[in-house]
Amino acid sequence: MNNNSVVVKIEMSGNRYNAFSADGTKYTSEIGTGTRKGAYNKGMALERRVGKNDRVYWWKVPMEMFDATTTPTMPDMSSVDVPTEHAEVLNFIHSSYSLKPTGLMMNELKWKYLVRSAVRGKNIMMTGPAGCGKTMAAKSLVNCLDRPDFYFNLGATQDPRATLIGNVHFEKKSGTYFSESVFVKAIQTPNAVILLDELSRAHPDAWNILMTVLDYGQRYLRLDEQDGQTTIKVAEGVTFVATANIGNEYTSTRVMDKALMDRFTIVEMDVLSENEENELLTYMFPHVDSVVLGNVAKIASLTRSESNSDTARVGSGISTRTTVELAGLLFDGFSLPEAAEVSIYPQYDAAGGVDSERTFVKQIVQKFCDDGSSDDLFNEEEVLEATEA
Ligand SMILES: Nc1ncnc2c1ncn2[C@@H]1O[C@H](COP(=O)(O)OP(=O)(O)OP(=O)(O)O)[C@@H](O)[C@H]1O
Ligand SMILES: [Mg+2]
Repeated sequence: MNNNSVVVKIEMSGNRYNAFSADGTKYTSEIGTGTRKGAYNKGMALERRVGKNDRVYWWKVPMEMFDATTTPTMPDMSSVDVPTEHAEVLNFIHSSYSLKPTGLMMNELKWKYLVRSAVRGKNIMMTGPAGCGKTMAAKSLVNCLDRPDFYFNLGATQDPRATLIGNVHFEKKSGTYFSESVFVKAIQTPNAVILLDELSRAHPDAWNILMTVLDYGQRYLRLDEQDGQTTIKVAEGVTFVATANIGNEYTSTRVMDKALMDRFTIVEMDVLSENEENELLTYMFPHVDSVVLGNVAKIASLTRSESNSDTARVGSGISTRTTVELAGLLFDGFSLPEAAEVSIYPQYDAAGGVDSERTFVKQIVQKFCDDGSSDDLFNEEEVLEATEA
C-alpha cells in the first residue's frame, strides 16, 4: 500500500451503495455501481489503485484493511502488568490494605487510592509537609507491588542532566563517549516502578527533562547530549511515583511548574491526628511510658493546629519524623525536656527572644513537663493562651 492509498467501505443507504473512506470522504462517484455493489455483497472493502497508463481502478480487499485505517488509538489500559482481568484488579486494590506495613500510618482510602493509581499506571505525586511519611509511603507502595523498582533522589542531585540522561566522558583512545544514566535504564524496564523522591526540590532542569517522560501522550526521554536527537521510549507499564513538599512554609522548595504538576495524580498525605500520632508512637515504642507518649502526641498536635491558624505563631508544626525521633530519645532514657531541647527546639527560630517561634514551642512543651523545675520564665496566661486548641 502506498502512502496516498485510499480504502473505502460500502454502506447501503436506501437503494444506493455509498463509498466512504475512514475520514468520512465520499468516493461514490469515482467507483462504478457494479464494483460497489459487488464489494458490499461480499463484505469487502475497496482500495484505490493505479494501473497501467495511470488508470485508476478499485480493487476488493479484506475489510480488515479498512478497519486498520479507522481503529482509533485507544488509551492502553492493559499496560500495567499486575492483574489483567478487571475482577482481579478490583480484588487486588480492595484487599491491598493488608499489604500496607503496620508501621506506616495512612488511612485505608488513601492507601487504596495510591495502590489503584499505581495499578492503573498513573504518574503519582505524594504531597504533604515535611516528615509526614511521603517517602515512607512511596517506598511501601513499591515494596508491595512486586515489580522492578528504581529510586532517584532528585532533591539531592546537583546535576540533573547527569542523573537523568548521562555523562559525556573523554578517553585518549576512543575520544569522547556517552554513558547512559541509571534512569535511562530504568525507563526502559517494562513495568518498572520509578521513585522520584523530592521532585519539588529538584533543579528546574530536571523538571524540563521529565516533561516529555511523564506526558502520557509522549513518554520519551530526549538524549540531546548525544549526537543526533536520540529519544528513548518509556517502556510499557512503567509507573512514576514522585514526592513533593508543597506548602507555603517550605521556602527551600521551588514552586513546581503547573505543567509538570498537571502530569501527576496527586495523593495527599495527611498529617496525623493526635490519636493517630499516639497510636504510631505506642506501636513503635511499647516500652516508653504511655502517658509521656500521649503528651508528645499532644504537643505535636498543638503546634500543628497553631501553624494552621490565622494568627499562627509558628510556621510549621512538629512533624511525625520529629516525634518519632523524640520518642526514640525517651526510649534511650532521656527526659522529655532533654529530648525536646535537642530534637525540637533547633527547628524553631530563636530570633525575637520572648516573641520567637522557639519560645512559643518551649511554652507548649513545658506545659507537659511536670518535673517541678518549671520556672517563671513564661507567665501562666501566655502558656494557657498558647495551648488552648
Ligand atoms: N504517616 C507515617 N506513618 C509512620 N511513620 C511516619 C509517618 N510519617 C512520618 N513517619 C516517620 O517519620 C520518618 C520520616 O518520614 P518520611 O521520610 O516518609 O517523610 P517525608 O514526608 O518524605 O518527609 P520529607 O518531606 O522531609 O521528605 C519516617 O521514617 C517515619 O519514622
Ligand atoms: Mg521524603
